Amino acid sequence: ASGSSRGPSRASLPEERRERARDLASRLPAGFELGVATSAFQIEGATHEGGRGESAWDAFTAVPGRVIDGSTADVAADHWHRMPEDVELMRQLGVDSYRFSFAWPRLQPEGKGALRREGVDFYERLLDRLEAAGIRSYATIYHWDTPSALTGGWFSRDTALRFGDLAHALGERFGERIDRWATINEPATVTLNGYALGLHAPGATRLFNALPAAHHQLLAHGIGVQALRAADVRGEVGIVNVHSPVVPATESEPDTAFAALFDVLHNRIFEDPVLLGRYPTAPEGFEPLFSALTEADPADLALIGQPLDFYGLNYYMPTRIAAGSGGDETPDGSSAAMASLPFHLAEWPEFPRTGFGWPVAPEFFGVALAELASRYGDALPPVVVSESGASFPDAVEPDGETGERRVHDGRRIDYLAAHLEAVLASPVDVRGYHVWSLLDNFEWAAGYTQRFGLVHVDFAEPTRTRTPKDSYRWLQLVADSR
Ligand code: NOJ
Repeated sequence: ASGSSRGPSRASLPEERRERARDLASRLPAGFELGVATSAFQIEGATHEGGRGESAWDAFTAVPGRVIDGSTADVAADHWHRMPEDVELMRQLGVDSYRFSFAWPRLQPEGKGALRREGVDFYERLLDRLEAAGIRSYATIYHWDTPSALTGGWFSRDTALRFGDLAHALGERFGERIDRWATINEPATVTLNGYALGLHAPGATRLFNALPAAHHQLLAHGIGVQALRAADVRGEVGIVNVHSPVVPATESEPDTAFAALFDVLHNRIFEDPVLLGRYPTAPEGFEPLFSALTEADPADLALIGQPLDFYGLNYYMPTRIAAGSGGDETPDGSSAAMASLPFHLAEWPEFPRTGFGWPVAPEFFGVALAELASRYGDALPPVVVSESGASFPDAVEPDGETGERRVHDGRRIDYLAAHLEAVLASPVDVRGYHVWSLLDNFEWAAGYTQRFGLVHVDFAEPTRTRTPKDSYRWLQLVADSR
């Protein structure tokens, strides 16, 4: 299709990539959901509109040096004003499902109390448009924008109770309309980057003393599941965790031991309690550091381990760990706290890299799924890939013949094709795949320097012009060819 109702032409896609799209489409199981994902803070902007309160991320971005390009999310992709256009982009793309997040500081500017009308109205309008476009709704309740009013953030157990109230209020308000609910997005990243290494809001550098923040987010998840069930929501209920297979840099004893430690810190702490109702045992020698978890109240674990309808999985890359302190560079920026640890993230010279420098290793997607299946067996509910994608330095170029605005992001097409193929080749029951992200957006500590979108956003223009990239046309071909 060219022009008209399905948007710009796909003529610029080379035949090989078109063939790969059609081949993938022919192998998608019946009912497999193709989707796209975003989060409120990363796209909405309008941080001072609609009575929105301040979040920990607004405060964090205001501190010089925290965000690489010195930017804030005050405008971001301006989705707050351009939401109808963005839903239309998804309709034309032909996806089945849209994963978005509710902005807590819009709904409860003070972190508590009745839901604020402007916020509720916005998400009602979003859901109206999604329904009209025939796109299923997948809502994340918490994607990192903790209201500043909740002082202490996830160090405070009270934040988990406040989260439960929010989940209940959202369940009552939107329970009839939402197809899938995730309580919390990537508690591992919030704990490690936000509370241990100081790379994300609130910028705490407590290393192992960050673990209470993990427990309180997991508790919030458990209370949230209970609250959604009590509100009798129609949709499926789950969580979104990131999983990164961890590989020791060498077979040496210290590399292997630190790799096992990192696997516990990054993966198991957030997976075992949700799926098995217990924390992993602390790796030998690290027992005292894990006491915040291993001495947790069994009643908390019963809440955290409640049965889920689906398991949301974000996969980006594997992690290679070596003993010894490295430089202060992490994939998300530099951190003196990271440099003080007795291990570091090692390079993967054999893999190509994304714009972030992350290894492109689709074979490890299969490993991630296999690890989940072997560790959790029947306790693992059907998996929904909730994020998968890559950043590249994309630029808009006018097409030589037509002058149409183009973004030639062939590397993103190849990334998505290989990762989707890896999912389809896995024996694990996976029900859907959401591309991160629909739009270029505010990439946390990397500001606007990392573009993950299927759609390019011009951050230099006040209009935040959207330009569908070649990857958008490619995914559209996959969706259309089914
Ligand atoms: C996972 C996070 O959920 C999302 O917010 C972020 O943009 C992507 N990773 C890419 O870093």
